Amino acid sequence: MELQQVLKERRTVRRFSQTPVPDEELRALLDAGRLASCARNDQRLRYTVVRTPELVNRIFTFTAWAGSVTPRRDPVPGMTAPTAFIVVTGKKEEASSPLLQTDCGAAIQTIQLAAWEKGIGCCWMGAIDRQAIHSLLELPGDCAILYIIALGYAAEKPVHDDIDDPGKVKYYLDDNDLLHVPKLTVDAIASWK
Ligand SMILES: Cc1cc2nc3c(=O)[nH]c(=O)nc-3n(C[C@H](O)[C@H](O)[C@H](O)COP(=O)(O)O)c2cc1C
Repeated sequence: MELQQVLKERRTVRRFSQTPVPDEELRALLDAGRLASCARNDQRLRYTVVRTPELVNRIFTFTAWAGSVTPRRDPVPGMTAPTAFIVVTGKKEEASSPLLQTDCGAAIQTIQLAAWEKGIGCCWMGAIDRQAIHSLLELPGDCAILYIIALGYAAEKPVHDDIDDPGKVKYYLDDNDLLHVPKLTVDAIASWK
């Protein structure tokens, strides 16, 4: 897939095929993420890949989905739920550092783009019970969960709509249950000097 097509068509996915993503594909996503830009090239992010069904199902219970259309985009366990999670962590004392958070954003977006190219859909998740996931995975006490990425082969293809009105950015479902994600045009967000 052309990069431009990936950039235009990648959307957050909340409906997944139940076919597991092979470990080598998950590894390829981390291989993309590790090369993302990061402050001073410090590379302070760490990852826990969760793909054993029991743990995936447990983590799922600590997540919240698509607040703007809730509960209509809640994945259904055994039918449309993610088949894996990537848990992104950093050192506890650095967890609220703007630079680490920024590194995390760059890495996650890189992972999402690499995934889309392979037909793997992602949902970057912040509405999660970090403490519960931390204890479930028995992560070390000195590490903190920044975000998690839910993923699996995409079973929906949301679309973006170009808009100029910053008051209309809320995503929505149409009559055919297709998710629309309004995105402001360049003219709406940029000025030129
Ligand atoms: C920092 C961050 C946290 C997010 N947390 C959640 C979440 O907890 N649950 C969810 O369903 N989507 C979550 N999302 C996905 C956003 O809702 C989604 O990116 C946004 O609607 C734009 O859609 P797009 O990714 O298709 O462009 C999060 C995205 C970001 C960047």
